[in-house]
Amino acid sequence: MIEPKPHIPRWTLTRYLIEQRRRFPSASGDLNALILDIALACKAIARIVARGALANTPEAGQTNVQGEEQKPLDILSNELFLRMNEWSGHLAGLASEEMELPQAIPEAYPRGKYLLVFDPLDGSSNIDVNVAVGSIFSILRAPAELSAGTRELQERDFLQPGAAQVAAGYAIYGPATMLVLTVGEGTVGFTLDPELGEFLLTHPCLNVPEQTREFAINSSNSRFWEPPVKRYVDECLAGKAGPRGKDFNMRWIASMVAEAHRILMRGGVFLYPRDSKDAAKPGRLRLLYEANPIGMLMEQAGGRASTGRQPMLGVMPSSLHQRIPVLFGSREEVERIERYHHEPSAEVAPSPLFAPRSLFRD
Ligand code: AHG
Ligand code: MN
Ligand code: MN
Repeated sequence: MIEPKPHIPRWTLTRYLIEQRRRFPSASGDLNALILDIALACKAIARIVARGALANTPEAGQTNVQGEEQKPLDILSNELFLRMNEWSGHLAGLASEEMELPQAIPEAYPRGKYLLVFDPLDGSSNIDVNVAVGSIFSILRAPAELSAGTRELQERDFLQPGAAQVAAGYAIYGPATMLVLTVGEGTVGFTLDPELGEFLLTHPCLNVPEQTREFAINSSNSRFWEPPVKRYVDECLAGKAGPRGKDFNMRWIASMVAEAHRILMRGGVFLYPRDSKDAAKPGRLRLLYEANPIGMLMEQAGGRASTGRQPMLGVMPSSLHQRIPVLFGSREEVERIERYHHEPSAEVAPSPLFAPRSLFRD
């Protein structure tokens, strides 16, 4: 007879954070409280997203600083992040995809020692089609004078490399709502229990497999790609008969959060590389609130994140809304693409023998 297992409750997000804090006996608990407030904002957004067309969202129709159309839910999610985090005394400032300038802490509230940067709703072009979207966040330390209140918040306070992040994560609003988090000690995943209203630890140790046969890229941009990316994708598409000697599968959801989530769950590689479509944009995705937090989650899960030319987390930001080429996922694939960027041969035209019309091709 099979013995019934005693019911062991899963760890809540709160418990996970407290257990983590025990590693630092002198820690104040501010970081934990901040992460719990962010999680609460994500739960509020999840509830609205789940109502779909039934949600009573305000009219939007504006464009953000990057010239992109703002959906009503972009604005509402941004408001929720601001209102649920500005009051606590843990932050010295906030910055978001949806705001041109950083947001200072209102006079009525104390200033804290952290900065919060976020993409309140990633993949928002997918809202109308009921495909997974998410929220991405990055926590940085605030300069001491800012926390002390001896000077005002400035854009440059946020211009810290990804390696300086204290914590990073995302919530994904899919069939289940999940929170994926790193506080610098691995990457873990929580699933929202809708009855309890709590995030429960369901993925205590996420690991990106080093190898993969799955890649994600928007190939409608292929004519604008640089040679190293063209080479990589061509080799994947050539499959078993090509230089990789194996067949690859491809996915493109157009919600980076959902692509990152798939890669954390089962491996793969994601590319939104530099392209020549718009000379003013060195990439599609933004460094501070998209590439860096996802980069930290990947690296903490044993994966890799890169621009192709340098490790993502080493990039020194030059502006709040800076765009950057993004590659992340299974370590061996990302390293291969980096190698292609560094090999001088990748920058020169292909050999005439293998040109589109040549001796060996008709
Ligand atoms: P956002 O909705 O925050 O502006 O981000 C959308 C991003 C990202 O999630 C996704 O990978 C990419 O845009 C999709 O771009 P394409 O439409 O060019 O495929
Ligand atoms: Mn985004
Ligand atoms: Mn967004």
